[in-house]
Amino acid sequence: MRAIEIRNKYLNFFKSKGHSVIPSAPLIPENDPSVLFNTAGMQPLVPYLLGQKHPSGTRLTDYQKCVRTNDIDEVGDNRHLTYFEMLGNWSLGDYFKDESIAMSYEFLTKELGIPAEKISVTCFAGDEDCAKDTVAYNAWKRVGIPDERIYFFGKDDNWWIAGEEGPCGPDTEMFYDTGKPKCGPNCNPSCGCGKYVEIWNNVFMEFYKDKNGYSKLEQKNVDTGLGLERMTMLLEGKETPFDTELFSDLMNKLEDLQQNDLIASRRIVAEHLRSSIMIINDGGRPSNVDRGYILRRLLRRMTRHMNKLGIDVSKLPELIDIQIEAMSEMYPEVINNKETIKNVIVEEKDKFMKTLQNGEREFEKVANRTRNAGKDTLETESVFNLYETYGFPPEMTEELAIEQGLKVDMSDYQRLFKEHQEKSRLGSEQKFKGGLASTGEIETKYHTATHLLNAALKVVLGEHVHQMGSNITEERMRFDFSHPAKMTDEEKQKTEELVNEWIKEGLDVTIEEMPKEDAIKSGAECMFIEKYPDVVTVYTIGTISKELCGGPHVKNTRELGHFKIKKEEASSSGVRRIKAILD
Ligand code: ALA
Repeated sequence: MRAIEIRNKYLNFFKSKGHSVIPSAPLIPENDPSVLFNTAGMQPLVPYLLGQKHPSGTRLTDYQKCVRTNDIDEVGDNRHLTYFEMLGNWSLGDYFKDESIAMSYEFLTKELGIPAEKISVTCFAGDEDCAKDTVAYNAWKRVGIPDERIYFFGKDDNWWIAGEEGPCGPDTEMFYDTGKPKCGPNCNPSCGCGKYVEIWNNVFMEFYKDKNGYSKLEQKNVDTGLGLERMTMLLEGKETPFDTELFSDLMNKLEDLQQNDLIASRRIVAEHLRSSIMIINDGGRPSNVDRGYILRRLLRRMTRHMNKLGIDVSKLPELIDIQIEAMSEMYPEVINNKETIKNVIVEEKDKFMKTLQNGEREFEKVANRTRNAGKDTLETESVFNLYETYGFPPEMTEELAIEQGLKVDMSDYQRLFKEHQEKSRLGSEQKFKGGLASTGEIETKYHTATHLLNAALKVVLGEHVHQMGSNITEERMRFDFSHPAKMTDEEKQKTEELVNEWIKEGLDVTIEEMPKEDAIKSGAECMFIEKYPDVVTVYTIGTISKELCGGPHVKNTRELGHFKIKKEEASSSGVRRIKAILD
């Protein structure tokens, strides 16, 4: 059975049982800054689970677009996905366990035609917070599931909550028996051997959890979730979701194009491309923070694995066309956004390709150094440098390390990252103070020249260039930036010419205040976004530069006179320093 048929059958079935069909919320939550993406159908419905009246009534059903990011690094095996579609039905203080279980059983056996003997179920075993779920047990017995296919487990398996706080409760889960032999005498649905595949989760949400523990909600809710990709895999009789129609066109194309036969890399490219299409479709854009960073990680990991497969990245637009075509029946909106989706993906790929090769070379050096020192864990400073200078997300460096039997200490990385953030915050506060105390006319000019130089370096050297520090005196400006190699004379000359061109053009410098989120969306450049207040000042110079900055700046670039680079030298590993003057 095709995915779209399963979806339609599901929605029609629950409609026939008195449910209103509601639209999927966007992947990016509208009013909930606490999560990056919707990860379950219930997420947009939390206020209603807590008692608010839903305009469509007390019985709802929908398909919800979801992204779960915990497992990004697991993608490549035969089952993990980041993007998936969850089919769900809800009772908001309406029916409860008996009716929910009876409907689920009817849908699985009658609508999807799954033989009853292939279904096993699990129920909550009971603990100090909540009694053993004999009601669910009896409901399963009533529809005909025998004792030997009903299992009881504790909170780890049969209790569901999104995160740490919120509506929650015991659940009952349905499993499909693939018919593989048991892996041992104790094999059961909670075993990961692959004999049992979880297909549906019905949560009986009558509790609320907060820091003080559990309390009862005013109403008893049902929240269910059925993963569409997995159900499609089972009903198409396939071993993995990558073999289903949802991925097969793209997987086949990758196989045609590849020079190296690497199944995990093909899956990573296909999965990350599909997820990225959906995230961009719902307004996500790559950046260095939050959901933008997740998208960046997906796209960079995808690019690296295309490289591993030996597929020319110029094929990317063709691959996007194939996947959008495959998705257009289920998500017609992706057709309208096709050009945007392509542009965002190709642009991010281009940015990353500039540093990928040098970064891989640098990684090899770091790996050799680690081995030669008789160690198995990469120096955290080097991992940090690979991110700052070459745009390698630390998770990617970790993946490369694991491929060579080496490790990255991710918690040490977090420590170092925070330390650098703190230093930079202190540094910019210092700079700002100094600036206010002694900002004369010439310092103001240098300040604006810094923005021009930053923009020019990005044009000449590439988008990997970021400001790492700066210092201004009456005599000169100093500018530190990320770049892996000494600049050539030609590069220096080009940079100088570009800055002088912009000065001559007489570009207006404008200042705007805006919410930090909007500033990031508008693509404004900054050093460490986390450290800025919620409302920020953004300076824009013509169309060439947009930066978060405290100022002050000149009104027009014409005021700067003539710009000249005096010196280019190493500052620290992966960081170059330019000293320049205005004369
Ligand atoms: N909210 C439940 C889940 O995600 C149904 O499994």
